[in-house]
Amino acid sequence: MTLESTLPNQEQIPEAPTEPPPAPGGAPLVGHAWNLLRDPLGFLTSLRDGGDVVRIRLGPRTAYAVNSPELVERLLRSPDFLVGGALWDTLGVLLGQGVATSNGPRHRRQRRTLQPAFRPDRIAEYGVLMAEEAQRTADGLRDGRTVDIAGEMFRTATRTAARSLLCVEALDERAERLCTALGTVFDGMYRRMILSVGPFYRLPLPANRRFERALADLHRLVDEIIDERRGATASGSNPDDLLTTLLQARDENGELVPEQEAHDQVIALLVAGGENVAKTLAWTLQLLAEHPEHERRLYEEVESVTGGRPVAFGDLKKLAYMRNLITESMRIRPAAWIFTRVAAVDTELGGYRIPAGTDIFYSPYAMQRDPRSFEDALDFDPDRWLPERRTAAAQTAHQPFGTGNRKCPGDHYSMTELALTLGTLVTKWRFVRVPETDSTPRLGITLQPRKAVLRVEARKP
Ligand code: HEM
Repeated sequence: MTLESTLPNQEQIPEAPTEPPPAPGGAPLVGHAWNLLRDPLGFLTSLRDGGDVVRIRLGPRTAYAVNSPELVERLLRSPDFLVGGALWDTLGVLLGQGVATSNGPRHRRQRRTLQPAFRPDRIAEYGVLMAEEAQRTADGLRDGRTVDIAGEMFRTATRTAARSLLCVEALDERAERLCTALGTVFDGMYRRMILSVGPFYRLPLPANRRFERALADLHRLVDEIIDERRGATASGSNPDDLLTTLLQARDENGELVPEQEAHDQVIALLVAGGENVAKTLAWTLQLLAEHPEHERRLYEEVESVTGGRPVAFGDLKKLAYMRNLITESMRIRPAAWIFTRVAAVDTELGGYRIPAGTDIFYSPYAMQRDPRSFEDALDFDPDRWLPERRTAAAQTAHQPFGTGNRKCPGDHYSMTELALTLGTLVTKWRFVRVPETDSTPRLGITLQPRKAVLRVEARKP
C-alpha cells in the first residue's frame, strides 16, 4: 500500500470551515471600537476590502461583518440567525418585547397582529391623512425662513403615524416631547451600542441622567396614549385601528397579551414610523437642495400629474420619477446604516464557521455605495432605477426595507408617505442650502445630516 493510497481523495474532504479573517487595526482591550467611534462609516466601508465576512472586536465582544449582498440575503433569510446583537440588544431598552426585538413564535404572533393594518386598502385610507399632514407642514413654512428640516420632518412623520395607526389626534405638544426624548435616547443608545460597558452607564453622570429621564418620558407618553384609549373604550368608543387591535391581541393560549406588550408594540411603531421616515425625508430634501436639476424634474413631474392641485394617493402610481428619486435617496443616504443578528445555532456563512451566539452585522450604507454593485456608486442618479438601467446586482445590494421574515411591514406605508409628503412640499416650496447647512452624515442609531437646515423659498410659477 502506497502512502498516497492511504490519504483520502483531496476532492472528497469537505473544505474545513474556518473563522473569518480579522479586520486590520484592532487595539488592545477596545479592539476596533475606537475605529468605529472615530470614523464609523469609513471603518464599515473599509471592511468590505477584507472579504465577504470579516471579524472585528468591540471591547469584550467579537462580531462578524458580512460584506457581500448575496451573503446578507442568506443571513436575513436563514432561520439560523435571529434578531439580536449590539443594535437590537441596545434598542431592546427602548423597544422591550415588541415585534422588532422578539423572536420565534412570539414574533410570528406579533407580526400577524400588525399585518392587517398595512393592507393596501388601509394604506389608501392613510393616504388621506398623510396628505393632510404634509399639507399642514407645507402651510406652516414661511417664505425666506431657515428651518430645521430634521425636526420638522420628525414631527410630521410622528403625527402621521399616531393619527393613521393609533387614531391619536392632537399630538402637537407630544410630538415635540417625543422628538426631544427620542433624540436624547438615540444618542445615548448609540454610545451603548458601540461600547457596551454596562456599569459605566449606571453612574450618575449628567449624560446618563439625561438618557434615563428621556427614556422615562417616552414610556410615560405611551402610557398616556394607552390610558386615554382605555378610557375612550370604557365609554363606548372603539375605533377600528391598530391600537385597538394591539390592546385586544391574544397570545397562543387565547389569553389577552400583557399590557406591557401592547405598550412595547406602540413604541416600536412610533419609533419605526417616525424615525426612519423622518430621516429619509430630511436626506431627500437635502439631496434636492444639492441637486436643483433633480428638484426641478420632480416638481415638473408632480405638476404634470396634478395640474397644481394637492397631490393625492391616486396620483402616486403616475409619479415614476418620484419613486426612483426616493429609492436613490435611500440608497445613497440610508437612515438605517447598520443591522445586527445573532447566530442561534452553530452554523456556516460564506464557508466560515459561525458558532452559536456569534454577533453578526452588515451595513446597508457600505453595501449600497459599493462600486462592485453600482456604477458610479457615489453619484446621486435616480435614473439608475429606470427599468432599462436597473441591474440585478443593484437590486440585491439595495433592499431598503430588508428581506426575509423581518422585512419591514411598513414598506408600502412608507413609500406612500414619502411620496405624498415630498410631492406636497415641492408643489409649494423650494429648499435651498444656507451657509450653516452641513450634509455630512451624523451617526446615531440612525443616520442624519449633521446640520439639517435649509431655507424655504416660495415657488415662483
Ligand atoms: C423609510 C422608512 C423605513 C425604512 C427604510 C424601514 C426599514 C426597515 C428595515 C430595513 C427593517 C428590517 C430590520 C431588520 O432586518 O433587522 C424594518 C423593520 C421594521 N419596520 Fe421599518 N422602515 C421604515 C418605515 C417603517 C414604518 C413607517 C413602520 C411602521 C409604521 C415600520 C415598522 C417596522 C417594524 C415594526 C419592523 C420590525 C419588523 C420585524 O422585525 O418583523 N417601518 N424596517
